[in-house]
Amino acid sequence: MRNLNQETITQAVIARLAQTPDARLKELMTSLVQHLHAFARETRLTEPEWQMGIEFLTAVGHKCSPTRQEFVLLSDVLGLSTLTVAMNHDKPAGCTESTVLGPFYVADAPRLPNGADLARGAPGQPCLVQGRVCALDGAAVAGAEVEFWQSDAEGRYDVQYEDLDEHRARGVLSSGSDGRFELRTVLALPYPVPVDGPVGQLLGATGGHPWRPAHMHFKISAPGYEPLTTHVYRQDDPYLDSDAVYGVRHSLIAPWVDDGQGMHRIEFDFVLQRRAL
Ligand code: BEZ
Ligand code: FE
Repeated sequence: MRNLNQETITQAVIARLAQTPDARLKELMTSLVQHLHAFARETRLTEPEWQMGIEFLTAVGHKCSPTRQEFVLLSDVLGLSTLTVAMNHDKPAGCTESTVLGPFYVADAPRLPNGADLARGAPGQPCLVQGRVCALDGAAVAGAEVEFWQSDAEGRYDVQYEDLDEHRARGVLSSGSDGRFELRTVLALPYPVPVDGPVGQLLGATGGHPWRPAHMHFKISAPGYEPLTTHVYRQDDPYLDSDAVYGVRHSLIAPWVDDGQGMHRIEFDFVLQRRAL
């Protein structure tokens, strides 16, 4: 295999990949090489441009830490997270739609009793969230694990505070025997995705804004059901149609009712898809 040129290089790499023992890895790598080479050809990619690309990816890696996942953010602003979620969670009508996980999920959040105050001192106006976890036929899903997280009135998640060593506006509850759950939190507001890294620079260079519409995150799991990762968005938010990470689904938008005394109330039911037997 010598004297490879711009006509023969792609086929040479694909031929070498043909020996990959794992069939799925072979399929993924072959397709990736085909598309990467097609991109370079189509754009007539120059060496300085590819060097910039490598420096950008290096900076993305350097920005990652246990509490900051710049690669997830990159996938999100490129729409790749939403595409992957949409392809892998095509559910029957009536089931709650999935959306992006985002970079601020924490796997070991505190377990709190149903009805608890998850805000635990997070800045913001009080907000009561109530709902029910059920199946498509309306049957209550008792004991579902309801993981919740959101940003506060400063637009930050607990993990974005360097000096905070406990969780706020985050927690895990179990639905009751009637499938119902209730939690107290603070009012979520629109917030910008982190722009102090290479992904923020890319957003700026491409004329995009970093704002996400106000939302709360939920991850709901119960035996016998497909896990659900989703958001609940606030009706009339100015960013619903220009979300920086393309995560909004119409069915996930709900009214957040202001009781006129500084308290907001949200009611949202989650319909889980039964796991195929
Ligand atoms: C979030 O909603 O937490 C989020 C999602 C994608 C990128 C940044 C933040
Ligand atoms: Fe979020």
